[in-house]
Amino acid sequence: MSKPWIFISPSSRGIGHALTAHLLRTTSLPILATARSDPAGVKESLVSASANNRTSKDDGSRLHVTHLDVTDESSVEAAAAKAAELFPPSTHHLHLAFALPGILHPEKQPRRIDYDDALETLRVNTLGPLMLMKWFGDLLPRKGTDLSDVRGAEAAGFRVPAHATWLTNSARVGSTADNRLGGWYSYRASKAGVNSITKSFDLHLRMRGAGNAMAMAYHPGTVKTGFSQEFWGNVAEDKLFSPEFAVRKMLEVVASRTVQDGGRCWDWKGEEVPP
Ligand SMILES: NC(=O)c1ccc[n+]([C@@H]2O[C@H](COP(=O)([O-])OP(=O)(O)OC[C@H]3O[C@@H](n4cnc5c(N)ncnc54)[C@H](OP(=O)(O)O)[C@@H]3O)[C@@H](O)[C@H]2O)c1
Repeated sequence: MSKPWIFISPSSRGIGHALTAHLLRTTSLPILATARSDPAGVKESLVSASANNRTSKDDGSRLHVTHLDVTDESSVEAAAAKAAELFPPSTHHLHLAFALPGILHPEKQPRRIDYDDALETLRVNTLGPLMLMKWFGDLLPRKGTDLSDVRGAEAAGFRVPAHATWLTNSARVGSTADNRLGGWYSYRASKAGVNSITKSFDLHLRMRGAGNAMAMAYHPGTVKTGFSQEFWGNVAEDKLFSPEFAVRKMLEVVASRTVQDGGRCWDWKGEEVPP
């Protein structure tokens, strides 16, 4: 039986921080999380955030936080090497992976587009998850990997799916069909790109994993993090989710997808976001 582990990148703040604290609190699985700076401080903050109502009896020693900047490929490679050291592929497999990095430069008019900002958006939001797939993808289960140990990992409030899941955070505005307002040129393109990359990666996993692993893109709704702060005033209270609520919805969607649902973008209600 292969032992499952969880990967979350990044975990320094926002949705990734809330997700890591939640999974630390509600599952018994080991977790590798990442931060661009101060991994020790991020670990301390995650352990403290997960302490309330923790169901498993441990002090956070299951949580490892390592340095990773998605725009620096050597740091992604080094983090994957660390993962293989902590969780040797001969005995372990990556069961839940969350690729979450994202930045936004909300250009309203073409003349407001700054070349360097647009390039940075594509580097973080599109090439970032692609580099995570490149270096961490081999740690997902292959055809024939025995996943039966996963049943023992279930805990309060979250049914860990039998197959491994790779989730890339996307956004509804990455949908070309659903683009009714325009604007946000670089961010929309970066998320359309990451949806395309996630589809290709899912097809790769179908060949490699034969039903043991899938990849999906995900729209979390508008979540009250630093990312959306500029727009909090424009969003109705019931449409602005707390990070904790967003994380619970994300895990509900992960738990209810099958391998056949891979390659598509799902929103927090479990409805498909069209390409
Ligand atoms: N919040 C929303 O309303 C919303 C809606 C739709 C989609 N999303 C998507 O959800 C994801 C997470 O958003 P969030 O709300 O949690 O954002 P957030 O609170 O602004 O956090 C962004 C995260 O990305 C990290 N990051 C930025 N540049 C990075 C790089 N070069 N390498 C590694 N990590 C980097 C940040 O790390 P540092 O702490 O080091 O800066 C931080 O952990 C993003 O992909 C976003 O597009 C969010």
